[in-house]
Amino acid sequence: MNVLDVIMAKRDGGELTPQQIDWFISTYAAGEEIADEQAASLAMAIFLHGMVPQELSRWTQAMIDSGATLDLSDVGRPTVDKHSTGGVGDKISLILVPLLAACGAAVPQLSGRGLGHTGGTLDKMESISGWRADLTLTELRNQLATIGGVIAGATGDLAPADRKLYALRDVTGTVESIPLIASSIMSKKIAEGTDALTLDVKAGAGAFMSDVESATTLARTMVRLGTDHGVATSALVTRMDDVLGRAVGNAVEVTESLEVLAGRGPADVIELTVALAEDMVRLAGLDADPASLLASGAALTIFEEMVEAQGGDLGAGLPVAEHTTQIKATSSGLVSAVRSRPIGNAAWRLGAGRARKEDPVSATAGVICLVAPGDEVESGQPVLELHADTPALLEQVIPTLDGAVQIGDEPLPSLPIVIEHITADSL
Ligand code: URA
Repeated sequence: MNVLDVIMAKRDGGELTPQQIDWFISTYAAGEEIADEQAASLAMAIFLHGMVPQELSRWTQAMIDSGATLDLSDVGRPTVDKHSTGGVGDKISLILVPLLAACGAAVPQLSGRGLGHTGGTLDKMESISGWRADLTLTELRNQLATIGGVIAGATGDLAPADRKLYALRDVTGTVESIPLIASSIMSKKIAEGTDALTLDVKAGAGAFMSDVESATTLARTMVRLGTDHGVATSALVTRMDDVLGRAVGNAVEVTESLEVLAGRGPADVIELTVALAEDMVRLAGLDADPASLLASGAALTIFEEMVEAQGGDLGAGLPVAEHTTQIKATSSGLVSAVRSRPIGNAAWRLGAGRARKEDPVSATAGVICLVAPGDEVESGQPVLELHADTPALLEQVIPTLDGAVQIGDEPLPSLPIVIEHITADSL
């Protein structure tokens, strides 16, 4: 096989053959023969011309075949997982994993670390003293069988071709391609061995996909891929214009998650958690009512068990920032937006996120939104609270938050957080 033939076939708008796909992915993953610039060139050709469904399905299978796949059939409960395309203040996994365990499922949530303005689940969990993301396969299985929920780091041997290709796409302007995103996400989730999967595909200014149409196309593409590979898959397309909940950062998001797990917390976080949980319960074939289980605090006990099993000590308390400052409203009226993009970027610049995957993150940095859309505010009232490890960072970030909280005169229409529900039957 000649790599130039593969690149030129796609460059000219053709369809790659199964043999070309299998050869390209396995050879590139093995670090043989194919140079990064050649892989980048093919990624750009795919970005420009897309892939037909059978081509994408084969591409995804080749990525799965580049590494190991987990077999979780012996954990004694139906397995179901969730994947979110990433939003600002998105702490839903921390609540959803123990909630589904309370419903009778086993949830193998293998996550990555955050890059860019949306935070990573592992970074949030690592703000808990002693908590450990790296589990052996035996530990993972035991925890699934006994407690029902695991949040852990994905091992390097699940879809290793994706790890290489994603790093390359990141630096070659080829991330925002629906077939490349769909195959990247789904290869990792299918390799994880879950029976069922609910996707939370975000649409809006704070999301990867800013418009609902592209988010819906991505969601449909992933539901088809999952279904074709024997995983019961569905997707919710959800709004990501305003911050989800009030807290953006690491420890601050754990604190907010604990509130929701205790049956309190912001209404939008509860609404989205319950919508996703109901879909997961349906896919897993369980008979449980997530809303009442969440309100009862049952999931909090499971979260505590999950943390303890992974060496974490919630009793030690969560770390808090040494330096804080508040930003005040410059007019009176009704809050019309708490814009996720500038607030996510601010939390990131304060230290909650990383620019390169090897950078450390601050456990305590972040932003607390003191108001939510629809709230009435007076001029001079604090609307945002910034947390950082050094005062200089606070000073740098304050000007970037001009206009992050919008204040108007009109009451807002109250829109549901779920825009569309895509099931395999609706494709
Ligand atoms: N997340 C992934 O895992 N892969 C992508 O391509 C984009 C987002």
